Amino acid sequence: MTDAHTKPGPTRQILAWYDRHHRDLPWRVSPAMAARGIQPDPYRVWLSEVMLQQTTVQAVKSYFDLFISKWPTVTDLAKAETEEVMKAWAGLGYYARARNLKKCAEAVAFTHGGHFPDTEGGLKALPGIGAYTAAAIAAIAFDRQAAVLDGNVERVISRFHAVDAPLPGSKPQMRALVAALTPANRPGDFAQAMMDLGATICTPKRPACALCPLNEDCRALAGDDPERFPVKAAKKDKPVRLGAAFVAIDETGAVLLRKRPGHGLLGGMTEVPNSDWTARRDGSTEPDAAPFAADWQPCGTIIHVFTHFELRLAVFRCRVGRAADGGPGWWEPQATLDGQALPTVMKKAIRQALPEVFEPKAPAREKVRTP
Ligand code: ADE
Repeated sequence: MTDAHTKPGPTRQILAWYDRHHRDLPWRVSPAMAARGIQPDPYRVWLSEVMLQQTTVQAVKSYFDLFISKWPTVTDLAKAETEEVMKAWAGLGYYARARNLKKCAEAVAFTHGGHFPDTEGGLKALPGIGAYTAAAIAAIAFDRQAAVLDGNVERVISRFHAVDAPLPGSKPQMRALVAALTPANRPGDFAQAMMDLGATICTPKRPACALCPLNEDCRALAGDDPERFPVKAAKKDKPVRLGAAFVAIDETGAVLLRKRPGHGLLGGMTEVPNSDWTARRDGSTEPDAAPFAADWQPCGTIIHVFTHFELRLAVFRCRVGRAADGGPGWWEPQATLDGQALPTVMKKAIRQALPEVFEPKAPAREKVRTP
């Protein structure tokens, strides 16, 4: 291509738009801060990028602030108790990422002298850092000319070039198109500008094309249907798994909890006793799957969508004396339930049985991946 689509015009327009309209985010060094000589902190960039793979910018802010106040440096995080990190992460989902976060902090603190590697290749060699995160950190923290492609950027670039090939197969093509626009100077601002543009102007529905710095050259807009992009391959229906969760409450209101095995889905997290999650439609969702015999009362079903399946958990509750043998586990007072490493699916189950616990709070959109 030899037209405006590969010339520096769009890059300049995007950066000029960013200078005026960037979002102020707790981990970000704005153009004005950069002009005062403030440099990005690779630890904050890394932490925010890992969190932002889970959920929205809005939802990440409070988690980011909590982590930074508890562990201001990568070495502090490396020295933290894994259990404490899991607790602080609870609610963000995909808990393997929290374990990798800790491992990555240890690698940086103990084998890299507390300094993140400053190249894409060096970053990718760290635990839990994939192609996207390595490119984002290299660009944002170290000014490397790396092409950064996340969901927001895919939308912007696929519309700008009217990419007809469906995702995910078109990712390499889109990465090449982003690389062609990524400047040697300010690559980090360029990457963040594309993300902000995708999040605030080039939105999935009803994009604000009149306000877009790229509207003159946008091929999707010229074709009058920006919402058609990015084209996506048809999704398969997710398989459904069934199970039952048991919320036992003692005479003080405490809830019986136990710890999941350290590996696999939600490994090492906390849970209420629950049955196997079976793909069989006649799966055991009756009280006979309970951890002990009691007067288990059904209180409805919760649905939780993981990356590779949908889970429908029938929730049962009972009131018991603390003497009841709950098997391995412990009785957690309701007042401190929120501080436990309970994944969202377990919080939903407890809330189903005890609607008064867990005031619903902001992070709604959780992306939970199965290993
Ligand atoms: N999404 C992922 N990383 C981001 C960043 N650095 N700024 C804004 N949105 C993002």
